[in-house]
Amino acid sequence: MKKYIFPNDFIWGVATSAYQIEGAWNEDGKGESIWDKFVHQKGNIENNDTGDVACDHYHRYKEDVQIMKKLEIQAYRFSISWTRIFPKGFGEPNKKGLEFYKNLINCLLESKIRPVVTLYHWDLPQALQEIGGWSNRKIIKHFENFAKFMFEELEDKVYMWITHNEPSLVAYCGYAFGEHPPALKDPKKAMQAAHNLLLSHGKVVQLFKDMKLKGKIGISLNLSTIYPKRRFRKDLIAAKRQDEFKNRWFLDPLFKGFYPSMLFKFLKKKNIEPNIEKGDLETIKTPIDFLGINYYSRDIVKAIDDSTFVEYMGIEHKKYPQGLYDLLIRIKRDYENIPIYITENGIHLKDKLTKDNKVHDIKRIEYLEEHIKKAWEAIRDGVKLKGYFLWSLIDNFEWTYGYSRRFGIVYVDFKTLKRILKDSAYFYRDVIRNNGILENVSLKEKQLNELKQKIARRFNSF
Ligand code: FCB
Repeated sequence: MKKYIFPNDFIWGVATSAYQIEGAWNEDGKGESIWDKFVHQKGNIENNDTGDVACDHYHRYKEDVQIMKKLEIQAYRFSISWTRIFPKGFGEPNKKGLEFYKNLINCLLESKIRPVVTLYHWDLPQALQEIGGWSNRKIIKHFENFAKFMFEELEDKVYMWITHNEPSLVAYCGYAFGEHPPALKDPKKAMQAAHNLLLSHGKVVQLFKDMKLKGKIGISLNLSTIYPKRRFRKDLIAAKRQDEFKNRWFLDPLFKGFYPSMLFKFLKKKNIEPNIEKGDLETIKTPIDFLGINYYSRDIVKAIDDSTFVEYMGIEHKKYPQGLYDLLIRIKRDYENIPIYITENGIHLKDKLTKDNKVHDIKRIEYLEEHIKKAWEAIRDGVKLKGYFLWSLIDNFEWTYGYSRRFGIVYVDFKTLKRILKDSAYFYRDVIRNNGILENVSLKEKQLNELKQKIARRFNSF
């Protein structure tokens, strides 16, 4: 029997974010966020879905924590909706909003589940967008105040803090590609937003360290391994560019205190480089306790033309577990062998509920199994990987795709809001129980064997 057993202190968790699951978008004094505004404008979201109700987690959090307990989940990564706490982004805190997170955290602790808090998972207060959002340096102070308030209130109960979730998506999709709110197509503002996000991260880490708080602090980046489509020089260069744009633009300043040169030169030539003030890069480089990695797939890059940096490629997305291994090894090699948590990994499928209320999501089980094995190999080869958070606990509002993409290990019937455990939920519970994967008990194999037996039985009946 092959065993993929993880270190004793390895942590198995699940992840969600506030806007994607909470609903109650305007209840108990919550202010409007950029996502509230964006989804209410027709045509922005598939099917014109909104997160107004989402999974109604705001009212059903106890049930969701019970599900986690049943699945023996050890840590829960969720985010705080900034506008529940400060409806306009700053000013007087909203007691009711704070109460919700305190109740949730107490409920988790009672169930022996460690709270992992993301401070910013994309839902900026609309009032702050009106002064330019992340492209305006002024909002960094507001983010610091929000973080300080949360640190003070939740101080000793939070196991890990994550300043930002995927700052590259916030900056690029929000300010350059026009896909997410504020839906701008302004590369200069995008690069400024990226810089300000990183700077706000550094400031909050400094604050955390100055306050001498318990717990750990880090950031979650969406990283992928980039491979050239063909072994041509042109494609190799395109891959290098994509790597600077997607990965290194965030990793290098965080760990090395500079921006990668090829992209920086390109931006400068076009006059769209960010304004960097004295001391900014020092602040961004403030040491963190861990790096969070969100990994879904690889990018395959093919040169198109070299007129712009970003459009110099074609990207292909496919399941590619080996990419997770390659990425982890690369981070170990290039970035100080920092402790790592995989803070998101998962797959969306067109899950179907059977008549007897089951979801046989074999493809998800396969995906998880293959990636978890690669994570194990990375640890074997010296990576300081400390935990794994599956995206996601439940099906939820998948941003511009609305409810059309199901990522959960728990199925949600969006009409009744009933939760139903998928096969992958039991698979993951067994992974947690075994602290890894025991090859011969894998569901995939069990099912393959059942299939073989079925075929054999049919064959024999002839
Ligand atoms: C990531 C986001 C997360 C979720 C997954 C599928 O980019 O951080 O909120 O949407 O993708």
